Amino acid sequence: MPEIPVFPHDTVLAAISPAEAIDRVRDGFVEYAGGEWEMPPKIYLNAPPNGDFRAMPARGAGLAILKWVTSFPRNPEAGLPVVMGVICVSSAATGEPLALVDVRSITALRTGAVAAVAAQELAREDARTVGIVGCGLHGAWAARCLHAAEYGPGMCFDPDPEAAGRLAGELGWEAGGREDALGCDIVTCVTPGASPVVDEADLRPGLHLNMMGADGPGKAEATPEAVARCSLFCDEWEQASHGGELTGAVEAGLVRREQVRELGDVLTGAAAGRSRPDEVTLFDSTGLAIQDLALCVALLDAHQAGRVRTQTATL
Ligand SMILES: NC(=O)c1ccc[n+]([C@@H]2O[C@H](COP(=O)([O-])OP(=O)(O)OC[C@H]3O[C@@H](n4cnc5c(N)ncnc54)[C@H](O)[C@@H]3O)[C@@H](O)[C@H]2O)c1
Repeated sequence: MPEIPVFPHDTVLAAISPAEAIDRVRDGFVEYAGGEWEMPPKIYLNAPPNGDFRAMPARGAGLAILKWVTSFPRNPEAGLPVVMGVICVSSAATGEPLALVDVRSITALRTGAVAAVAAQELAREDARTVGIVGCGLHGAWAARCLHAAEYGPGMCFDPDPEAAGRLAGELGWEAGGREDALGCDIVTCVTPGASPVVDEADLRPGLHLNMMGADGPGKAEATPEAVARCSLFCDEWEQASHGGELTGAVEAGLVRREQVRELGDVLTGAAAGRSRPDEVTLFDSTGLAIQDLALCVALLDAHQAGRVRTQTATL
């Protein structure tokens, strides 16, 4: 019977700093784009009327993971998180189970980390200021990672002034209105995607947009017309064109596959990044299992090196 480590939420966040998460997530995109890592499409299992489950597998760096994660949007009414679940980590050499990992902490950290990777790769060389539109759980982690990547100061906007004020206070940034946040160099939108927060009129020369909130069908944070006016990048075309920020513009016939570059290809040099300082770049993040895998690799490395201790379970 294997005895395996179990990593709870706080243990994960103590083991992996935002700076390390950024490096690891960057490495994961490079490995995947180079064909070293494998990632089949995610599978949805509906659980009507309240939500759905997603199964997200990936293999790389000697590990194979399965992320089993929920989206139950009305859960907060019952005092429960929207996103919950577990990541099973196995050896890719023998299939042996190696660890069980909390989903919420890994998801928050890897989502925040990719915002920083995309900014480092696609924003103007001299970009510094950060606008956060939507200061909930994942907006806060995007802000923390951008801060760790030495961007800032930032402007935090949220219709819930407490959420914006709390995040601004934590990072020494300011809280302001939507226009203040959209006036920054790197604007990161992490709202529920129920209605657009970015329109064509908001696009200024040199802006970089991270669009993180639209990670499923029916969600959008920018109008299709605004999306179509940007130089477009995404984490993965299939997900982004079917359940991401790009979907509306693709369905309206405003954007075609050949106009969109994947972040991994930009990182490996297979595709070009920003070409001019006055270009408006938009990165569509839908969330990939390779990001989760990258952080599981970091976590198991930290555990093996004795930098993190945790309880075990016997299967
Ligand atoms: N891209 C990814 O990898 C990824 C990962 C995790 C979550 N998400 C998505 O990100 C979104 C946010 O998730 P969360 O867990 O942070 O939710 P959350 O509920 O913790 O935070 C959402 C925040 O957005 C604010 N908000 C709502 N409407 C707004 C508006 N019009 N303008 C500005 N702010 C507004 C809310 O007040 C809230 O503070 C969801 O759609 C979620 O599915 C994406």
